Amino acid sequence: MKTLVIGANGQIGQQLCALAAEDGLPIRAMLRRAEQAPWFSDRGIESVIADLEGDFRQAAEGCTEILFTAGSGPGTGADKTLLIDLLGAIRAMDLADAMAMRRFIMVSALRAEEPMQAPEALRPYAAAKYAADRLLRLARTPHLILKPGKLTNEAASGRLTTDPTSVSHITVSRANVALALREVLLRPELNQAEFDLLDGNTPVEQLFS
Ligand SMILES: NC(=O)c1ccc[n+]([C@@H]2O[C@H](COP(=O)([O-])OP(=O)(O)OC[C@H]3O[C@@H](n4cnc5c(N)ncnc54)[C@H](OP(=O)(O)O)[C@@H]3O)[C@@H](O)[C@H]2O)c1
Repeated sequence: MKTLVIGANGQIGQQLCALAAEDGLPIRAMLRRAEQAPWFSDRGIESVIADLEGDFRQAAEGCTEILFTAGSGPGTGADKTLLIDLLGAIRAMDLADAMAMRRFIMVSALRAEEPMQAPEALRPYAAAKYAADRLLRLARTPHLILKPGKLTNEAASGRLTTDPTSVSHITVSRANVALALREVLLRPELNQAEFDLLDGNTPVEQLFS
């Protein structure tokens, strides 16, 4: 088993990689630039330089699953949303299918299934997430879709919920999302499932039980 983490240098990605390294979980961090690599090598984490807008097939050689936590981010326009959040995700899914991987883990977004309900400025992003999730459900590779709410930089509480009706907020800390992703990596049998993710009261170890 080896997980290719796409978006590994991101705010969730880095936290997840650090947790996975502590547990000795086999991961490979896909990075865009060589200067990002020392942070990972300092923690004993294997990395590879590749870009979702380029040919990243080689980055996945020898990996058995993909965790997609990349995103074009709020600082770019709808063009990059299309090329990274949608096309990048589709190309990663195609790669997982072609390489007969065991699982594709998608970091999607809460309410991605209702893009036209999102605030107007967020609709292209929500549409990209919606379309990527729909295609992933049709892919040959077993999938797991996690849908975090609005991300915050709060410290990890280690407690989340997958039931939005049980809380009165729509937020989740990136640190808690990273803990949930580590839990997913520890459970290779967890697939063909989708979970909303919000800060909550359930210990992360029991979240997917
Ligand atoms: N913001 C929210 O409230 C929210 C809510 C729900 C879900 N999400 C999702 O959560 C995920 C991660 O969030 P985050 O806060 O960790 O995001 P982030 O810090 O912006 O990280 C995004 C990562 O994607 C990478 N990336 C961008 N373009 C790429 C490309 N062409 N090829 C390869 N990698 C590329 C970035 O690389 P560099 O480090 O090189 O820039 C970065 O490491 C995203 O999928 C996002 O859509 C966000």
